[in-house]
Amino acid sequence: MSSFLPTYQVVESPQIEAPEAKVMLRVENISKDFGKFRALDRVSFEIREGEILGFLGPNGAGKTTAMRILTGFFPPTEGMVWIDGEELFSRPQKLKRKIGYLPEYVNLYGEMTVMEFLKFVAQAKRVHPKIRERHLEEKLTSCGLWDVRHWLIDRLSKGYRQRLGLAQALVGDPDILILDEPTNGLDPKQIIEIRTLIRELGKERTLVLSTHILPEVSMVCDRVLILNQGKVVASGTPDELEALLKDRHRIYIMMADRYRKEDALGLLRELPGVQRVDVTDERDDHVSLALEVSKEMDLRSSISRLFVEHRIPLLEIRSGKLSLEEIFLKIVVNENTEYPFS
Ligand SMILES: Nc1ncnc2c1ncn2[C@@H]1O[C@H](COP(=O)(O)OP(=O)(O)O)[C@@H](O)[C@H]1O
Ligand SMILES: [Mg+2]
Repeated sequence: MSSFLPTYQVVESPQIEAPEAKVMLRVENISKDFGKFRALDRVSFEIREGEILGFLGPNGAGKTTAMRILTGFFPPTEGMVWIDGEELFSRPQKLKRKIGYLPEYVNLYGEMTVMEFLKFVAQAKRVHPKIRERHLEEKLTSCGLWDVRHWLIDRLSKGYRQRLGLAQALVGDPDILILDEPTNGLDPKQIIEIRTLIRELGKERTLVLSTHILPEVSMVCDRVLILNQGKVVASGTPDELEALLKDRHRIYIMMADRYRKEDALGLLRELPGVQRVDVTDERDDHVSLALEVSKEMDLRSSISRLFVEHRIPLLEIRSGKLSLEEIFLKIVVNENTEYPFS
């Protein structure tokens, strides 16, 4: 595989708008190493109050690792996390209370009832006893758990367990909710219910969720961060990412004579339909180039002709997908879901 992996940063155009909401969460250049393995590599982003941010990426991309750092579970190897203007790991006890977390695998106590479990969580999160009952009633209602509040957790369906997972994250009224693959393992009906619930919860809170399901991000999130192999490879609104993918395609060229590189670059950049040309590899005996071109055009024959005319030795020419699209496809192939942005 090519090591060429550009970062697509969608630049927001300046607009006249209402004053921006405050930044609730800011992540500055965080990296996480497990021994020699770098699971997260210089990730930065911020989330404003009331925003729903999605981490999208295939398995192993680093989503859970990033979330564990955001919830104060472990510190990053490098970098900083700011919650509501304060550095998380300088005041972990205080700041962790601003965060509600639904881990990938929730540890629920099957032999407790729904209510008993939430009471236990409320105690652990130090919800004042005076308001505890009212507080839990509210969570049970908003998560659609009122009717099953006396059920043993063991009797709950997977969808209801996930609701309970959400309810426990909401106990203590955290400003920020962090949900790790909240729809994972649910059936289609449950998925719709949980997504609706998440959107509802996201109206009043800052929310980060992770998913490896493409359609989910466009359905639920305001903004998306695409992670692959520990790196942010793209970010933007679902619409911006769609636009980014829609009309670009890639052509890879390998040429033999490195002394003709500049000639080739000049010719290719002049060619209609070519949006960008990058040198991806340069050796004594060959140079590799990657072109971004309009999707509708197949420029391979015109490029071959151009090289022949100018006597530039061409070793290889092939069309390929944009690396961002490769990542999307990898996600799709992994999960066998439909393509989201269509
Ligand atoms: N505690 C750990 N020790 C060693 N490697 C880990 C640990 N946690 C995660 N990793 C590795 O870090 C990478 C990212 O994992 P993870 O954050 O769980 O990805 P995702 O949630 O996107 O599937 C994976 O390659 C995983 O094997
Ligand atoms: Mg994960």
